[in-house]
Amino acid sequence: MYRNLHFLHPEHQTVLLRTDYNVPLKNGIIENNLRIEKSLPTIQYLLNHQVKKLVIISHLGRPEGKVMPEFSLKPVAAELSRLLQREVFFAPETTGEATKQLISEAPDGTVILLENLRFHPGEEDNSLDYAQAIFDTVQPDCFVQDGFGVLHRAHASTDALPRLLPSVMGLLVEQEIENLKKVQENPLHPVLLIIGGAKVKDKSPLIEHFASLSDYIFVGGKIAADGFTSDLPQITVASDFTEDESGAKLDIGPKSLDQLIDLVLKSRTIIWNGTLGLTEKPPFDFASRIIAETIGAKNPAENLSVICGGDTTGFVENLLQNRYSDQPPLNFSLVSTGGGASLEFLIHGTLPGLEVLKSV
Ligand code: 3PG
Repeated sequence: MYRNLHFLHPEHQTVLLRTDYNVPLKNGIIENNLRIEKSLPTIQYLLNHQVKKLVIISHLGRPEGKVMPEFSLKPVAAELSRLLQREVFFAPETTGEATKQLISEAPDGTVILLENLRFHPGEEDNSLDYAQAIFDTVQPDCFVQDGFGVLHRAHASTDALPRLLPSVMGLLVEQEIENLKKVQENPLHPVLLIIGGAKVKDKSPLIEHFASLSDYIFVGGKIAADGFTSDLPQITVASDFTEDESGAKLDIGPKSLDQLIDLVLKSRTIIWNGTLGLTEKPPFDFASRIIAETIGAKNPAENLSVICGGDTTGFVENLLQNRYSDQPPLNFSLVSTGGGASLEFLIHGTLPGLEVLKSV
């Protein structure tokens, strides 16, 4: 049992909120704001409870402890302000006197977003000193963890920091966990894991781990195009690809798509992480679109489906939003904001960033 917002009395308190605003950015433009939108219910809840100040922290990308302007959260502050329809202050540092002053001088009811946590090496090192420095700068009364997508990392903002003060999970984390538990505790067999995307370093260990839970595993996306191999008996790796004029393999081909459709139709629990092709460049979204439609058309009373990973979730949400009223509805058990976090929760039934929020 993890502590949730009902354990808090945030009225007139300074609340430190951890979100996962690791959104896709190109030349400072946010390509998909889903993770920002999904953080709004918790923010609204806290604002409705008249918090004194709401200070938000997040990471973006992997700047590895260095200040890299292309990973600044500044565009996120602007987008958050647009969505909330209120001013959001932006602090260009997470710690230090200037940030402390900005927070203390901000009027009551202000929302303040601090710069990227990962500009400081202490974040990924889970440094207690860095956690304490954030604490001393913000001087929060309580901490709300709503960065579901990063809870599989034991970092300063997911581990060391919440240990320093009363800490609870936010509404997004609560909703994700409730739904993932259904799949984790009672998966309906056959279970199919579909893996795509590009981060092979992250996904290989997860595929190994999932071997015991899954009846079938299908690997597509850039991972397959780059030549992924595995000895697992239940694994199918895409073997043909649709290419662009330069010969780049940008989507799985018709033979692999047929194989995957077949697996989707005969499975009762489907976990999908990573798009099958370069979905932002049609027509290389074809296989992902067909698979989303095939999963979404299954009877929700008899099947479980979890879509996870920033790109996959964004792609499916987009498909849902752009559906015509005469098209049949698509049903998914959960369209999760987490990638690695969702998969790790399904394997272990908990996450490092949740362990610190346990009530017993
Ligand atoms: C994600 O996008 O999966 C999370 O924000 C975690 O990011 P990371 O894989 O860089 O730790």
